[in-house]
Amino acid sequence: MASPDPPVPHGRSNQAVKAIGSGAYGTVYKANDISQPGKFVALKKIRIPIDENGIPISILREVALVRQLDRFEHPNIVRFLDVCHRSELGSEQHLQLCLVFEFVEMDLAKYIRRYPGGLPSTKVKDIVFQVLCGVDFLHSQRIVHMDLKPPNLLISEAGQVKLADFGLAKVYDFGRRLTDKVVTLRYRSPEVLLNSSYGSAVDVWSVGCIFAELIRMEQLLPGTSERDQLEQILNLLGTPSEEQWPRDSPILPQSFVSRPPMNLEELVPGLDPVGLSLLKKMLIFDQHDRISANDAARHPYFENRPLPAIEFPPSRNLNAISSPNVPAASLGHRPVAQT
Ligand SMILES: Nc1ncnc2c1ncn2[C@@H]1O[C@H](COP(=O)(O)OP(=O)(O)O)[C@@H](O)[C@H]1O
Ligand SMILES: [Mg+2]
Repeated sequence: MASPDPPVPHGRSNQAVKAIGSGAYGTVYKANDISQPGKFVALKKIRIPIDENGIPISILREVALVRQLDRFEHPNIVRFLDVCHRSELGSEQHLQLCLVFEFVEMDLAKYIRRYPGGLPSTKVKDIVFQVLCGVDFLHSQRIVHMDLKPPNLLISEAGQVKLADFGLAKVYDFGRRLTDKVVTLRYRSPEVLLNSSYGSAVDVWSVGCIFAELIRMEQLLPGTSERDQLEQILNLLGTPSEEQWPRDSPILPQSFVSRPPMNLEELVPGLDPVGLSLLKKMLIFDQHDRISANDAARHPYFENRPLPAIEFPPSRNLNAISSPNVPAASLGHRPVAQT
């Protein structure tokens, strides 16, 4: 799985304990935190080719933004501790970036596998609530995550959920299109699949897919290609009306056969009617009608949430959202058409 290369030494840590994850662009290591003996950090090592224009400005801007975001110390966002870099000279120049994060025990994909018989419904509620709080905070900062899925959600031993791998999709994405290999299709919203303009509602769609997965213990929409993913969405929701189809999409509704909606209730057995009403609002085809993360976190489903482990984010963040669909801007994600 992960490359055996040691990470770049830096101020916070220089002893990698083990590789814990590897993606298309780098490796994540668990490492000793030398500033706190006995504690660990996560090191994310990324190798970026440098062309004749030098280090892409987008990378510098995005690292600065991740830093800026960390000042809020939001409980549902993984703490970003440090960044260091090293240039590798040779026939092809590279910049090696090492991002240092707090170490969180496991990701949600691994966590789900711990419960082969299914997660208790109270746990599902707690996890979805915390994810929504983190997403609401990002949206209040005009940041759209764009790649919410269980491996990008970390969960601590104390049950605290933290969003990770945010914004960096764009760092990785310079000069290339996101491919199926890089970003999982299965949490991707219809507007993204339809090549339409999009905003923060894409994250709410992903959280809806994750919510359903936590109940079902399997993915809700396991598409195998962009076309198949769209087919699966239309199978679930039925054919949308012409008004609901994004006007700026190059893909026309006529290219799909018309079909009735499925009964979502049957796909999430055991989810109570209040939870089902929330899930339906998160999985609305038209991004403009989809519930915002802020409203979702205030939904009655969470009224009897089990543990007040994580309190709602400060009211400043809640009030900052004026529109249900905040455009992606800050982390340089694909520009969003203003509606
Ligand atoms: N702060 C962290 N603490 C513990 N594990 C982490 C941390 N960050 C990432 N990981 C693990 O490494 C994996 C890959 O990290 P991620 O940031 O998602 O990079 P990638 O771009 O490769 O997807 C995650 O799915 C998770 O299992
Ligand atoms: Mg990831």
